[in-house]
Amino acid sequence: MKLSGYRIKANKHRATRILDIKKESPTVKTFTFKDKICARAKPGQFLMLWIPDVDEIPLSILDVDEEGNVSVAVKKVGEATRALHNKGVGDFIGLRGPFGNSFTLKVGKILVVGGGIGMAPLFFLAKKLAPKASKLTLVVGAKTREELLFMEKLKGWCKGENLLATTDDGSYGVKGLASEVSETILTKEKYDTVYACGPEQMIRKVFETAEKARISMEASLERLMRCAIGLCGSCVIGKYRVCKDGPVFNDEQLREVKDELGISKRDFDGKRIPL
Ligand SMILES: Cc1cc2nc3c(=O)[nH]c(=O)nc-3n(C[C@H](O)[C@H](O)[C@H](O)COP(=O)(O)OP(=O)(O)OC[C@H]3O[C@@H](n4cnc5c(N)ncnc54)[C@H](O)[C@@H]3O)c2cc1C
Ligand code: FES
Repeated sequence: MKLSGYRIKANKHRATRILDIKKESPTVKTFTFKDKICARAKPGQFLMLWIPDVDEIPLSILDVDEEGNVSVAVKKVGEATRALHNKGVGDFIGLRGPFGNSFTLKVGKILVVGGGIGMAPLFFLAKKLAPKASKLTLVVGAKTREELLFMEKLKGWCKGENLLATTDDGSYGVKGLASEVSETILTKEKYDTVYACGPEQMIRKVFETAEKARISMEASLERLMRCAIGLCGSCVIGKYRVCKDGPVFNDEQLREVKDELGISKRDFDGKRIPL
């Protein structure tokens, strides 16, 4: 496979230092660093972040600015993310990217549905959609009140009353799942586009609702990633490689991968495992 000039540049390893760390929840921290190439990323794209002596992991780009600052929000789940959470301001990290496609920025009435750390790419998306959407409704799901992410900023972008929270334990907002609340919204009101990211079972449910309501949808999917440039095959879903053809998929593509969506993924040996 031949890589374009842009992709060769994006795939070059760069070293940078952590400039800022913000605690978002008991398990999530936002890390900010400078990187001119990733600062040109679009909502939905991801980078590969190298934690020296530990591992390299895919992370959605949370935000960028014109000064070249780039942020990622990271949930502590295992060895690499734990090691990153233990880092401090001034510490070195490595990175490659940005990789993958991005969300299509649509106008009209927009519903954004995110679960857990799936809010990371949707935060960047909502920031871009907010000035142009005729209505922007956000449904943010989490296990508990403390794990609801980015609520203050999101409230400003969707004019407060269109921000709905769901928690599994009912400690804030509606007790239940983000997919259930979005089903209620979509059966009552006509929207033009739905965007989703989060646990794949949630994405599947939102997709089924959007299909019934005949609303176009885009979702960002996760698969195990190694190379991030379409070479190794570890991120395969159906006929697609999530790192190169995604991570954002439209409704037509989601329909094509319905046998796997929310049902199974591949492990690093290529074996199909249930989600
Ligand atoms: C496109 C994409 C965007 C992502 N964006 C974010 C984000 O913005 N914030 C965030 O906190 N997490 C994100 N993730 C998930 C993140 O990559 C994993 O949580 C991380 O790799 C876990 O590494 P670990 O060593 O801490 O945990 P491990 O104990 O190694 O793994 C824990 C779980 O994380 C997943 N995982 C592990 N390695 C990989 C890998 N190489 N590729 C994909 N998943 C892996 C697996 O489901 C695994 O069961 C994203 C994943 C993808 C594919
Ligand atoms: S991560 Fe290697 S092909 Fe996608």
